[in-house]
Amino acid sequence: MEQRQRNKTTVREQQQEDDQLEDMHHGPFPVEELQAAGIAALDIKKLKDAGLCTVESVAYSPRKELLQIKGISEAKVDKIVEAASKLVPLGFTSAGQLHAQRQEIIQISSGSKELDKILDGGIETGSITELYGEFRSGKTQLCHTLCVTCQLPLDQGGGEGKAMYIDAEGTFRPQRLLQIADRFGLNGNDVLENVAYARAYNTDHQSRLLLEAASMMVETRFALMIVDSATALYRTDFSGRGELSARQMHLAKFLRSLQKLADEFGIAVVITNQVVAQVDGSAMFAGPQIKPIGGNIMAHASTTRLALRKGRGEERICKVISSPCLAEAEARFQISTEGVNDVKD
Ligand code: GTP
Ligand code: MG
Repeated sequence: MEQRQRNKTTVREQQQEDDQLEDMHHGPFPVEELQAAGIAALDIKKLKDAGLCTVESVAYSPRKELLQIKGISEAKVDKIVEAASKLVPLGFTSAGQLHAQRQEIIQISSGSKELDKILDGGIETGSITELYGEFRSGKTQLCHTLCVTCQLPLDQGGGEGKAMYIDAEGTFRPQRLLQIADRFGLNGNDVLENVAYARAYNTDHQSRLLLEAASMMVETRFALMIVDSATALYRTDFSGRGELSARQMHLAKFLRSLQKLADEFGIAVVITNQVVAQVDGSAMFAGPQIKPIGGNIMAHASTTRLALRKGRGEERICKVISSPCLAEAEARFQISTEGVNDVKD
């Protein structure tokens, strides 16, 4: 009897907790919410024009950046920051709470079960995954596959969201998406409608596209952002040693904006990167070694780094190079008409 009584309270407590959860906020706050905290509509418009469409993006911005916005005085910045930090938690939380939050992170399937296995389910949301490898190693093919799988329901390895594709190399092919959609039993036209595509023409343009991306992500749920490739335009826009530090600074800013999108909207960010042959002493012993472009800036910005290389025929190998929680394992996959798949042998 006593036991039943206790159960009853637990159920009631549980229901109360559920009700509270229902009221809890999910997803980013539109920047308009600052109006309730006394920020003028005109100032909110200025924030939006500067690409800050969510309260999160305001809260995560350095003061210096906010001060650069035309017409926003120092006093206003203080007021805005105070209002934003009331809505967005910026202090310490317990590891337990963080653990609960991380349960919400979803993995988007790569299309290959073998590959998903070493990735602990697939490409993680909320952080940047870098794919690097030689030409034809399958980077672009994997990006195409992810544009489709990210639209699948959660229980099928999807992210239940749209995809955004920034194409710096001109190798995006909608035709491939239709073929991949077929394989997953999705309607081809719907799949195409759910992919927002932009061609990037130079590094400034590529960075500007992220502002537009943020304003689109406020409106609809995106699960994935692809930049293929993140570094190609940097190789052509900047040349030589003289421009190296300017190039690295520009790249660092771009990658930081990407990370901000991942934090704000909980999307998976996937960037591809080319490789160069390493010219140092080690080549004499180990044969020609390849390394990804972008140096330390790139290495630090990507949470997960995956190296792709060619195998026999359509076979490709993916290796986890660095990750905060995955082992340095390798998996084989295959490129087929239906995108990335398991090797059939
Ligand atoms: P770069 O961008 O040049 O650095 O290369 P990448 O790593 O992006 O290579 P990508 O993903 O474009 O892979 C190209 C490989 O995929 C080539 O070997 C193509 O033959 C193969 N491929 C592309 N489309 C198909 C297809 O429909 N069917 C099959 N079987 N293979 C394909
Ligand atoms: Mg490519």
